[in-house]
Amino acid sequence: MTVRTLDDLGELRGKRVLVRVDFNVPLSAGAVADDTRIRAALPTLRELLSRGAALILVSHLGRPKQREPELSLAPVAERLSELLGLPVQMAPAVVGEQVSKLAAALAPGELLMLENVRFEPGETRNDPQLAAALAELADIYVDDAFGAAHRAHASTEGVARLIPKRVAGLLLTREVQTLTKLMSSPARPLVAILGGAKVSDKIAVIERFLEVADTIMIGGAMAFPFLAAQGHEVGDSLCSGEDVEHARTLLEAARASRGELVLPSDLVIAEHFGADAAAEPLDGVDVPAGHMGLDIGPRTVADYSERVARAGTVFWNGPMGAFELEPFAAGTRALAQALASADAVTVVGGGDSAAAVAKFGLAERMTHVSTGGGAALELIEGKQLPGVVVLDGTAQDAGVTL
Ligand code: 3PG
Repeated sequence: MTVRTLDDLGELRGKRVLVRVDFNVPLSAGAVADDTRIRAALPTLRELLSRGAALILVSHLGRPKQREPELSLAPVAERLSELLGLPVQMAPAVVGEQVSKLAAALAPGELLMLENVRFEPGETRNDPQLAAALAELADIYVDDAFGAAHRAHASTEGVARLIPKRVAGLLLTREVQTLTKLMSSPARPLVAILGGAKVSDKIAVIERFLEVADTIMIGGAMAFPFLAAQGHEVGDSLCSGEDVEHARTLLEAARASRGELVLPSDLVIAEHFGADAAAEPLDGVDVPAGHMGLDIGPRTVADYSERVARAGTVFWNGPMGAFELEPFAAGTRALAQALASADAVTVVGGGDSAAAVAKFGLAERMTHVSTGGGAALELIEGKQLPGVVVLDGTAQDAGVTL
């Protein structure tokens, strides 16, 4: 696939550029609680502004069905303004007469943030009318919203089709290139570490890694269905019958696959889930009744860390335990440290694992921390992302290959 980039845009002075960003960030008490996704879009925004463009920013926030004031993008505009050191004007709505006037009045180097695009019910339906109203606001479309590229919505797909000058932003380009290379030509051994709550969310990803990776290491609550399928006791650990069936199928597939599937050999358990719970080491993986597994144990940490140290490429998605509770954070912290010290190319999938490396202050030491959760996993599964496909250029003489 060939997509055009900022380099292919030519003269931007006096042009209005609609930039789709993924500013779907956590809020707390009406303010941005984690600005990683905002910072990640800054290089694209700065480049466009320095070339004299006026920017109209469009993003979703949360999953409102209609206008929900607590999901206004106003706090995000405020944070962006602090980071850029420039005013960011907040539009009163997504589209409409007032918004069109504000967009038309923008001078070179000015920014307007549209309201949460999901306040419009047409957004998730990819409504052509909403797409057309967004397209009317600008001359050029730049997509830097990698985290939303797996959604065929009006602001990620419909509007792009209506603006002939549509290009990929710097973040989206880097994300797609890094994750595509990881699966097509990784430095080997390729080690995948997969954790999190449910096997059912990650079946396709595990299947793909069984074909492509050399080692797949499982942690977090997701390990219990695998251990149960092998006949171990799981006590009160998170473990649905449906996930045990999926795990059984994956263990079967692993027998004939390229990749070796590795499970924990010891655990940290407790009587309940809570910051006040007493963490107990368990030498082995048979969780006694009345207990639940909440982290991987020290022997597993040592084994997984050693495999990371020998890797050429490491992909990590999903924590190794309940890292948000200090007594059960050791496994996830140790793995984050192992990645930080490795010589390998290290890629962290979005969501909880990105939050974990940020919490441990290690994000800067990774080769790449993806801003996309679902989008990164879909790309790894081998799916085409609608927000990227729509940027596919026909010209052979321009753009970059994704
Ligand atoms: C995300 O946070 O993964 C993206 O912003 C997509 O959000 P969505 O799952 O609500 O479409």
